[in-house]
Amino acid sequence: MPGVVIVGAQWGDEGKGKVTDLLAENADAIVRFQGGNNAGHTIVRGGEEFKFHLIPSGILYSDKACVIGNGVVLDPRILLGEIDGLRRRGVDMSNLRISANAHLIMPYHVLLDSAGETKLGKLSIGTTRRGIGPCYADKALRLGIRVQDLLDPKILRTKIRAALEPKQQALRELTVQHRKLRKEAGEENDKGAAEQAIGEAADPRLDLHTMTEEHVNYGHRLEPHIADTARLCWDKLDNGKTVIFEGAQATLLDLDHGTYPFVTSSNPIAGAACVGAGIGPADIDEVWGIAKAYATRVGAGPFPTELDDEVGERMVEAGHEFGTTTGRKRRCGWMDLVALRYAVRLNRMTYLSITKLDVLSGIDPLRVAVRYRSKEGAVLDEFPYHQSILHSAEPEYEDLPGFDADITGCRDEADLPPQAREYLRYISDFVGVPIRLVGVGPDRDQVVWLGEQPSLRAA
Ligand code: IMP
Repeated sequence: MPGVVIVGAQWGDEGKGKVTDLLAENADAIVRFQGGNNAGHTIVRGGEEFKFHLIPSGILYSDKACVIGNGVVLDPRILLGEIDGLRRRGVDMSNLRISANAHLIMPYHVLLDSAGETKLGKLSIGTTRRGIGPCYADKALRLGIRVQDLLDPKILRTKIRAALEPKQQALRELTVQHRKLRKEAGEENDKGAAEQAIGEAADPRLDLHTMTEEHVNYGHRLEPHIADTARLCWDKLDNGKTVIFEGAQATLLDLDHGTYPFVTSSNPIAGAACVGAGIGPADIDEVWGIAKAYATRVGAGPFPTELDDEVGERMVEAGHEFGTTTGRKRRCGWMDLVALRYAVRLNRMTYLSITKLDVLSGIDPLRVAVRYRSKEGAVLDEFPYHQSILHSAEPEYEDLPGFDADITGCRDEADLPPQAREYLRYISDFVGVPIRLVGVGPDRDQVVWLGEQPSLRAA
């Protein structure tokens, strides 16, 4: 099975890193195809915890190519920090390859992300403020700086100069607008945010010379890893080797198909693996969707099954639902099968993995949303495409029996309580995709494989 895509099926943080880590055991390369350091995944190996933001999970295997594809936006300062941190812990980095065509998150992107969110106030998206949106915007505007530009100081300086000028202007304008808004709101004394924005427009990191020097240095350090990564993928795939394409974020945060504008600025769905890694649709043989046994979301935006009660709090506590990247508390709610079925079709999933089933232990009944009802009373069996309808849609639930047992020690399907098996069966039947892997705890070995052996089952 040469080409395997792994995607998030909900709003992110489904535990893709752990599944990728497990499936990667039998793969030859692991490739990230979109997003940036807005992502964060934690892998627990032998009691040791590894947190990644940019580097694909596969880096813990010394014999596999670990690739940052052209569709990723990367902040070189963060990437080098991650490389240094992993090296200090004895991880071999020689197999890391970075696409020469990937775009760089520059200091002004981070500042603009932050200033833009501040300006939106109550309407803010709740971005990770890592510069993701402004960087992808520059890519589309053809004002982006790419990894390959780091290797030519003259070109680098010219491109930074061209990109920088409109940013300084934009930051200044945002500052003025922000001040005006504050004034209109009668908050003249609250100058904190405005002062911060002014500081950002004059940030020393926005100096052309300083920025160029800094990035030339990054280039020297990253040079051994820079490569034609699409070709690397073709070489593997054409020789029958297995390549895993690892998505960041998730389907409902997709720029085109998610809950726009409360989405990320890239396409985390399976189809984007082709563009973000440089392969063709026919190179993809399997698509694994990863979903939590319940639902979570960070940041703003519609979330029909959100729980604002003690069950939701219990999920936060038991599931340690705090973001790896920003530390924000995640919003929690019931499993939404209307949204999951939408994700299954969008990604044309082959298999599902349900993670964190152990978190539901002790909750009875277990509710799953099977349809929505619009505020006019219409029954909605499918995920509505219209933003206003989704915002006010009320979920209708099916109640399934819960289980009390601690399932963190289960390793076989037969070990799981019948109610847990019924819960999984219900999900699988509803969305029409087999569940192959179930997470029952944070450790790598805390999983239960279901049904026939998938090609990538770890030994
Ligand atoms: P951005 O990607 O930083 O622009 O943020 C846009 C939206 O995507 C916000 O709601 C973020 O909270 C969300 N988001 C971005 N990355 C992740 C992730 O890795 N997990 C969950 N949510 C994310």
